[in-house]
Amino acid sequence: MMKEQTPQHIAIIMDGNGRWAQRKGLSRSYGHKQGTDVLERTLSAVADRGIPYLTVYAFSTENWSRPEPEVSYIMQLLAKGLHEYTPRFIKEGVRLRAIGDIDQLPAETAAQLRDSMEQTKGGQRITLCIALSYSSYTEVSHAIRHIVADVQSRRLSSDDLARPELINDYLYTSGMPMPDLLIRTGGEQRLSNFLLLQSAYTELYFTDTLWPDFDEAELDKALADYASRQRRFGKVLQ
Ligand code: IPE
Ligand code: IPE
Ligand code: MG
Repeated sequence: MMKEQTPQHIAIIMDGNGRWAQRKGLSRSYGHKQGTDVLERTLSAVADRGIPYLTVYAFSTENWSRPEPEVSYIMQLLAKGLHEYTPRFIKEGVRLRAIGDIDQLPAETAAQLRDSMEQTKGGQRITLCIALSYSSYTEVSHAIRHIVADVQSRRLSSDDLARPELINDYLYTSGMPMPDLLIRTGGEQRLSNFLLLQSAYTELYFTDTLWPDFDEAELDKALADYASRQRRFGKVLQ
């Protein structure tokens, strides 16, 4: 694949864990457990393809409204998974980053997340950005509060405010390139409040495959589809 046809940043909405488990007569939790293993394998596959950024939607702001036992299970799974995978992240050059309202997470999960981010900060091969308690509306609201504070303290001028790109410096994703390709598994064709501003010119790819069934072949299918797209960014190509 030619360099310009390889995305630099892939975002994934990892959807379908619950249905995958229920179809097997198992509890939804089992699907989340399986989904964690698939994330680990997908991360390696993405890194092996020379793609330097992977952002995954692991838990949305709206997901807090799920039954309490499911929420607690996911939060424990995250803490355990991060603890278990951090040594591998370090070995494989993975830098962990988080986006979302991290202060909302249970103390144990937040502490493990901060510890894993600190331990992996030297990772040079790929950035794994995990969206937790994330929604685009929360992100924009957070950005506005910080912009207002910076205007009040005169760190920002009215000229700065007139720059449409200013918002990017205040989003959780600040400093990362915009996603080139966004994959959603699980059959739904919607963004569910994920990276709404960042995906302004992202290529979208939807697959019916449920997240626990996602594998390297599925990833390569999405990458091949991406390579066939003509990205114009509003211009006319010669
Ligand atoms: C995605 O899978 C994982 C989270 C939202 C935490 P779901 O749990 O939404 O699975 P389905 O969509 O109900 O099958
Ligand atoms: C989106 O999936 C959130 C994550 C994958 C973490 P949902 O299952 O929560 O989204 P909806 O409810 O189908 O829109
Ligand atoms: Mg879902």
